[in-house]
Amino acid sequence: MCGIVGYIGENDTKEILLNGLEKLEYRGYDSAGIATLNDEGVCLTKVKGRIAALRESVDSSVQSTMGIGHTRWATHGVPGIINAHPHQSASGRFTLVHNGVIENFNKLKKEYLSDFDFVSDTDTEVIVQLIEKLYQKHQNTVTAFREAMRLLKGSYAIGMIDAEDHETLYVSKNKSPLLVGIGDGFNLVASDAMATLKETDQYVEIHDKEIVLVCRNFVEVQTIEGAVVDRKPYTAQIDASDTEKGTYSHFMLKEIDEQPIVMRKIINEYQNEDNELKLDADIRNAMKAADRIYIIAAGTSYHAGLVGKEFLEKLAKIPVEVHVASEFSYNMPLLSEKPLFIFISQSGETADSRSVLVKIKEKGYPALTITNVTGSTLSREANYTLHLYAGPEIAVASTKAYTAQIAVLAILAVDTASAKGFHLDFDPMQELAIVANAMEVLTDQKEELEQLARDYFATTRNAFFIGRSSDYNVSLEAALKLKEISYIQAEGFAGGELKHGTIALIEEGTPVIALATQENVNYSIRGNVQEVVARGANAMIISLKGLEEDDDAFVLPHVHELLTPLVSVIPMQLLAYYAALHRNCDVDKPRNLAKSVTVE
Ligand code: G6P
Repeated sequence: MCGIVGYIGENDTKEILLNGLEKLEYRGYDSAGIATLNDEGVCLTKVKGRIAALRESVDSSVQSTMGIGHTRWATHGVPGIINAHPHQSASGRFTLVHNGVIENFNKLKKEYLSDFDFVSDTDTEVIVQLIEKLYQKHQNTVTAFREAMRLLKGSYAIGMIDAEDHETLYVSKNKSPLLVGIGDGFNLVASDAMATLKETDQYVEIHDKEIVLVCRNFVEVQTIEGAVVDRKPYTAQIDASDTEKGTYSHFMLKEIDEQPIVMRKIINEYQNEDNELKLDADIRNAMKAADRIYIIAAGTSYHAGLVGKEFLEKLAKIPVEVHVASEFSYNMPLLSEKPLFIFISQSGETADSRSVLVKIKEKGYPALTITNVTGSTLSREANYTLHLYAGPEIAVASTKAYTAQIAVLAILAVDTASAKGFHLDFDPMQELAIVANAMEVLTDQKEELEQLARDYFATTRNAFFIGRSSDYNVSLEAALKLKEISYIQAEGFAGGELKHGTIALIEEGTPVIALATQENVNYSIRGNVQEVVARGANAMIISLKGLEEDDDAFVLPHVHELLTPLVSVIPMQLLAYYAALHRNCDVDKPRNLAKSVTVE
């Protein structure tokens, strides 16, 4: 993870770096630092904690026209000033920021750097010392930088300044994201275009293992062999105002509220003028040709995949397996003859998913990425892409991307069903429009949900979410939401499975939240609730209109039975939000987490 910004130009470098890092805090926020260069040399500031603390520590009198900055999510070495980036070589000549994991850093240390003293526990310091060592040999910075990149194994996005060169930022990447921003009289680098949108909307992609020399008035992209690459910039399609909180106290709440708008946007984007569903013919053909779908994802996106499996199997009648990316990568199951891989990823950058994509591409299998980020790695490297149109999601806990993923998977399933000649007895776009309205009703019921969050989660140590059939899939997401932002130990469980062991954890007052949106299991899930109530649980039932009973704590507006996850998740998101708020947790930036996980 980690976020990187680099700048070279006439404007106030430290301000641009700090503003950029603020926008990149979603990538990690345990420590941060910037290094700027001027005639006096390199000015380095590092802090433990957030960018706000870095802003306070930076010497505002220092003027400079180039620099690099970093916000960290620790991999090697505890969060603290010593391990914070930028790191410097022994002589102080080279200063570098890095996002990623260098797998062979110990080997490099032993083989090349036994005469160097290291101050940090990071793999990053090895890179900068290695560049210094190679500089001693080649007496040329580009050559030393290139030679170092050749020796690195693992993932990296790197920005480096050479104290003897006021004209160049040295940049490279492998697996980790990094873009070059093109400006008028300045250029910059950033992990994500969102960080520097105020400066420019023109960006150039960097491909793996390329080296880029970023100068004030030009940018030179080179292959690792040194051949110059001609690559045109593209315009980043992000509205800068989408990256602001506006009047909201938290991005998470804003993003929960945006879900009806996102639904309507998806309906719009995936319909033609005659209100017919439109999907790329190549995607339709790939879906038709597949004998089995393998959905690969992590975290919340994995939970959306579980819902998608149900759509694809029930509507399009294709067998689907859903796999956690980090497991699939190293323990592939027996594959069918004509598999199609679907990667679901909000960021499009998750390293675990990418590792699977690389492996299945080597085997020649087709891949479709469903992502929120145009031009992301998973989108670029897959054969096909479906966009989520959710707009930037900034809060670490994913909300609107989850519902957008489910809606797009529903559209994909419907399209495949019709391509295969299966008749559907409902109008999917009409049903999604009903969902959008239901979402609006739910996001207007904040007070009620805030009270429930107080009643159930104010002081509890743990909580259980139970459901059957598709409610079980939503229970997993509900538990993840609650634990990631409120730190309450929460588990999502299949209603019928609880009694096979886990019910031993139910004590007097343990919160159990049950979903009852599926008619065929309505009575059985209610039976499971009785089992936990008999053992002292503080249970609540959230049911679908039409299936409700008198004592249910909350009733969801009626929507098509298949699409209930799109609405039942909303009270779950709001319960988690208010639980975290009342427990004084940092809702948007929970401890130990990062939004875009670009390390395996
Ligand atoms: C991280 C985030 C989760 C997210 C997961 C997958 O762990 O904290 O919220 O669900 O990555 O991210 P992706 O961008 O691939 O959907």
